[in-house]
Amino acid sequence: MASCMGISRAAVWKQIQRLRTKGYEIESSTRKGYRLARIHDLLDADIICEGLRTKWLGKDLRCFKEVCSTNDVARSIARECQNGTVVLAETQTRGRGRLSRPWASPPGGIWMSLVLKPKISLDRAYRINMAVSVAVTRSLCALYDLDVGIKWPNDLLIEGRKVCGILMEISAEVDCVDWAVVGLGINANIDVSGFPVEWRSTSLRQELGQEVSRIDLIQKILLEVEETYQSMHSKDLYEEWRRRSVTLGKQVRITSATGDLSGEAIDLAEDGALVIRAEDKIKRVLAGDCIHLRAPGET
Ligand code: BTN
Repeated sequence: MASCMGISRAAVWKQIQRLRTKGYEIESSTRKGYRLARIHDLLDADIICEGLRTKWLGKDLRCFKEVCSTNDVARSIARECQNGTVVLAETQTRGRGRLSRPWASPPGGIWMSLVLKPKISLDRAYRINMAVSVAVTRSLCALYDLDVGIKWPNDLLIEGRKVCGILMEISAEVDCVDWAVVGLGINANIDVSGFPVEWRSTSLRQELGQEVSRIDLIQKILLEVEETYQSMHSKDLYEEWRRRSVTLGKQVRITSATGDLSGEAIDLAEDGALVIRAEDKIKRVLAGDCIHLRAPGET
């Protein structure tokens, strides 16, 4: 190896040690050399960046073995870091979901936060959510031919089970977004059988019967986000978000700060609102937690 690369044995050894500290299992044998014990899918910034075809998203990409929450790390650097910085971790000790719920983040998932600095007013920020949820849905459909739908506002489901959650956190001046941190939790190669049943979770591995390459998926998602982000204010993006919705036409219950509301989801407005027919009144909901209720006779 040393003569092939034109470096000393000590230099090879140093690089092997560096890979081992990153988590690669490398066997060594006197006179034979080194051997990778198994194919790894570790989140390695060099490997992800090598195959990344984006222009600006993920150009600063930081991978960690363990953090409390990638959103917290991203928020702490958001002011100084460049637009499009990405934070990834193998595990999170205090992963957060919407409404401050805990988000289970064992090894094998994709726990990733994007720092975005769009030049938009706060009232257009919901478009970032639209762009990201459409981009991740596109990626999952394209890579694995899965039937993925968006549950309002931005959970990704496969046959009613959640495979991805998105948590956007924003800092804004009077009327202008300073930065947005968009956290993606994707149940990739994880076992969700121990998760509470009410979470109705699934994973890509469970759906496909085999592991996915997290690196390929991350590269694809970043490329798609870059594209949808550029066109986030377009009618096409809104229409695609609406078309990919699995909430439209469903009986739903929305829980929000102002209380509960049940009815039929009859439309998704261009401003991201869910339009509900409840006891013959039409109501618009801009934020809240949505549960799909079973229609009478549905199992
Ligand atoms: C939800 O559906 O409630 C949103 C879940 C978002 C989870 C992701 S995992 C990466 C990032 N870091 C966090 O602490 N949360 C988000």
